[in-house]
Amino acid sequence: MPDIIQLLPDNIANQIAAGEVIQRPASAVKELMENAVDAGATEIKLIVNDAGKSLIQVIDNGKGMSETDARMAFERHATSKIKNIDDLFRIKTMGFRGEALASIAAVAQVEIKTKRPEDEAGIYLEIENSIVKKQEPVAAPSGTSIAMKNLFFNVPARRNFLKSNPAELRHIIDEFIRVAMAFPEIFFSLSSNGQQVFHLEKGTLKQRIVQILGNNYNAKLVSVQERTDYLDIIGFVGKPETAKKTRGDQYFFVNSRFIKSAYLNHAVMNAFADMIPRDSFPMYTLFIDLDPAQLDINVHPTKQEIKFEDEKIVYAFVQSAVKHALAQFSITPTLDFDLDPAIENLDAVNKPVTDQHRSSASSSSLFQTFSKKNQAHFIESKNELAHWKDFYEKPATDNVAPAPHALPIFENKVQQEQPETHSEFLQLHNSFFAVQNNNGYLIINQQNAHERILYERFANAVSGKPIATQQSLFPAVIELAAPDAVLLTELLPDLSHLGYLLEPFGNNSFVVQGTPADATQSGETDAIERMLEQYKHFSNDLKYSKREKLLRSLSLQQSIKAGTALSQKEMHALTEALFLCTTPNATPTGKPTYMSFKKDEMDKLFGR
Ligand SMILES: Nc1ncnc2c1ncn2[C@@H]1O[C@H](COP(=O)(O)OP(=O)(O)OP(=O)(O)O)[C@@H](O)[C@H]1O
Ligand SMILES: [Mg+2]
Repeated sequence: MPDIIQLLPDNIANQIAAGEVIQRPASAVKELMENAVDAGATEIKLIVNDAGKSLIQVIDNGKGMSETDARMAFERHATSKIKNIDDLFRIKTMGFRGEALASIAAVAQVEIKTKRPEDEAGIYLEIENSIVKKQEPVAAPSGTSIAMKNLFFNVPARRNFLKSNPAELRHIIDEFIRVAMAFPEIFFSLSSNGQQVFHLEKGTLKQRIVQILGNNYNAKLVSVQERTDYLDIIGFVGKPETAKKTRGDQYFFVNSRFIKSAYLNHAVMNAFADMIPRDSFPMYTLFIDLDPAQLDINVHPTKQEIKFEDEKIVYAFVQSAVKHALAQFSITPTLDFDLDPAIENLDAVNKPVTDQHRSSASSSSLFQTFSKKNQAHFIESKNELAHWKDFYEKPATDNVAPAPHALPIFENKVQQEQPETHSEFLQLHNSFFAVQNNNGYLIINQQNAHERILYERFANAVSGKPIATQQSLFPAVIELAAPDAVLLTELLPDLSHLGYLLEPFGNNSFVVQGTPADATQSGETDAIERMLEQYKHFSNDLKYSKREKLLRSLSLQQSIKAGTALSQKEMHALTEALFLCTTPNATPTGKPTYMSFKKDEMDKLFGR
């Protein structure tokens, strides 16, 4: 029998090896961006077309390459970053294998332009199937631009495994964010099919987090800083009220490298225990820096998993650093009401307190309106929420609350007001109201609370029992701009669950055949147009489905606004409905709906 073992041709061996490193467009994005970081760039631009399937280009202003290095860079195991195995345990760069560019050149058509600052001219190369097709000098700015075209053009089976463009783009954005988050001192931009998706100016880590994750986190970040001889942990965690139902905004970086670690995630979750509901996820961006000798980063081809020399120590440090940060935050000033000068001049404030004063003061309504600078606030645990009935003290009247999710009062302001016999709720600035509970009092933000109630009500309607529709007697017609009409058409099925019956009427117009039975009778066209406007605000947010955006837009737009005076009955209904929600403590976008103040803390403040 003849011998049967043969060496594979180089290009096939390269293609097979490439499979480890380049699994999808997002893997190439990661590799090219990391190379730009390693090259010392201060500006890195990423351009993709067709979710990276036809083009991924990274342009940096880093140190560039010489002509020889530019050719060498595409050889397998060619790297400038390590020289021997010991270097692997001193590593400060993102790359070290010398595999990324070789892998990319094996499975795509590559064009590279690169110039070192000290050179007059740059060099241009075209590479396909690992073979240099063209090489010429070129005028270029200092830095490197690598364009990778038609990924997997020569491996159709892999190309067929790629997901839809939106799915692949999402992976790209994830990788982009992971690199951009780790280097706030570098400018990054991302454009997709000619549209800018991110433009991240250089700044602090805090600014970068807000740029990437959104303004919701502004003023909602707790700084984590723990420096020890063994390791440093710095970064931010979101305040408990920003915790979300979906995992997502959670980032660990070890020596600037994004890693996934269920183990360390557990450490953070532990630190948050009792501060957030069980099924929600806090935001965190934590950087763990330690001696590279304590790490093995070479355990996974994409370097996203690493091994710590002593994992338990790292776990303990992470947990205590986050706990410590959260503990400090809860005594830090969070509310900053200024004392009204009119109140400061009152006798009760100026004159010494007698027993008589004390008893009359405690029965006066002013007693409940006081506010104190630097008052700490407390986040209630889910356990307390479960006993919502004890949580706020019910009035001893037979003032019956309406069905919590119906809240007709807010859908139809013309409802008769009941005579008011008793003031359990105290509205402040027509925006908040205070209500006493067993162990203190709550301040509820009326708009945020109502937004949460509507959101859960609408979410129940689209996934379960639809909201009843009332046929319009004189159907109105809505005329829209073409893009809005396309958008509205996509939303029609969900809107019908929410009680809005709309029919396309040609020429970008729609007839309103029915509106939610419990809604106000006028203004339905307005309501729909305002909803579309709101929807467009969310539309850059790739994280959310169409339905989610619709729910968020409608609940935001229909919520009762600050500046609206509420009756006792309305405040009562709002409070009841809020604490029947699954997630009463925040709006869908994470703004708190209420704050809770404890009586014993108040007593302490007054030296009692
Ligand atoms: N944008 C760039 N600017 C300057 N030099 C670069 C750039 N990209 C790559 N290089 C050079 O090309 C070499 C090979 O890059 P490649 O990404 O293939 O390997 P690596 O970064 O060394 O290791 P790894 O495979 O782990 O990424 C690098 O070591 C570096 O010297
Ligand atoms: Mg590299």
